[in-house]
Amino acid sequence: MSFSAHVRAQLLLAVTSTMAACNKQPAPADAAVSSPVPAATTAEPSAPSANTPPAETGRPEQHDASPGDAGTKPASKAFVCPQYATPDHMCVAPRTPPPSGDMRGVQEVGTFSEYDANGCYAASALIGTCTGVKTAAGPVRAGGKCCYEVCRVPVPCGRPIVVDGCPRLADLQARDDWSGPSFVLDADSAVRQRAADAWISDARMEHASVAAFARLSLELMAVGAPSALVEDAHRAALQEIDHARTCFAIAAELSGGETVGPAPLPMDGVRLRSDLREIALETATESCVGETVAALALARASESCASEPLRARLAAMAEEELSHAALGFRLVAWSIAQLGPRVGEEILERLRVSVHDAPISSADGGADAWRGLGRLTREDLRAVEHDARGIVAAAEKQLRYVG
Ligand SMILES: [Fe+2]
Ligand SMILES: [Fe+2]
Repeated sequence: MSFSAHVRAQLLLAVTSTMAACNKQPAPADAAVSSPVPAATTAEPSAPSANTPPAETGRPEQHDASPGDAGTKPASKAFVCPQYATPDHMCVAPRTPPPSGDMRGVQEVGTFSEYDANGCYAASALIGTCTGVKTAAGPVRAGGKCCYEVCRVPVPCGRPIVVDGCPRLADLQARDDWSGPSFVLDADSAVRQRAADAWISDARMEHASVAAFARLSLELMAVGAPSALVEDAHRAALQEIDHARTCFAIAAELSGGETVGPAPLPMDGVRLRSDLREIALETATESCVGETVAALALARASESCASEPLRARLAAMAEEELSHAALGFRLVAWSIAQLGPRVGEEILERLRVSVHDAPISSADGGADAWRGLGRLTREDLRAVEHDARGIVAAAEKQLRYVG
């Protein structure tokens, strides 16, 4: 059985077993497998990379344009978000000093970004799964910052803790207690640093997932969830600690033994929710879709990894991410059973939007050397996207029989 078929079977089992526990009738046997795979209608993001811009996190600031800000083209007045996206205005600090010349690409930690001559990101550099930005226009200089009109969608990118719609990621600091076990990886210097940056980016997301599951475990208690869901949320948090350690260890090996780990994770704005509908809506995006994508991506990465120990570790992580996705589907199914069909339809709509809109982080590279270090090419990622859409569509169809 392919890993993708395994994922599909496990997630459908997660839904049907929860339905049985809630005394609901499962769907006819062929209902879940006859779901057509949705066409990949989402435009490819033009910016390469894992693409969480190193901008200020938290709520974007609002600024009025000042007379001193000039030289960047205004955002289009016709900028309109699709129905499923939320319009937003965001301002970020320019790069200082700005890169000289016209638009140029700059490789940074975990990102590859384009700037204009004023040090403002190209609007396309904001687009990506982990940013939650679907489309963007700008920049316009305002208040000394670079401002954009953006359309935000739920963030289907693993399950980092999300605050006000943005993943809350820790900065980096030199430390070795968040790294291990070590790996020996063979690659030339040109690809090593680029891959190290990508693994650091993943490590920060995994670290943020620890916080997400820690919060979820408390929220599940607040809504009186079954003990098995609370137990699995705690287990998932522990697994995310291991995932973060693995990613930091790979990055350390690729960057010549320099070990870094997370700085303190800011907790301002983090709140505990006790509204089951709100929790279920977020779970549909971040767990059902995000963790399914994460499982498929890790499995694919393990297949072409050149290091046997790393291949085995990535395969194990893929199974754990699959268990997180299954937890998400069980939680969503239980929530629909509690809340009834009207809210259930809202949750299913969120699932459809999230999977439709899941342009997972793009990647550059593309050579075997890149794959050999456990990274995926654009082609690989497109295949993951396609698989994830089909699997989530099948599970969503099964969930219809819960409400
Ligand atoms: Fe993880
Ligand atoms: Fe996970």
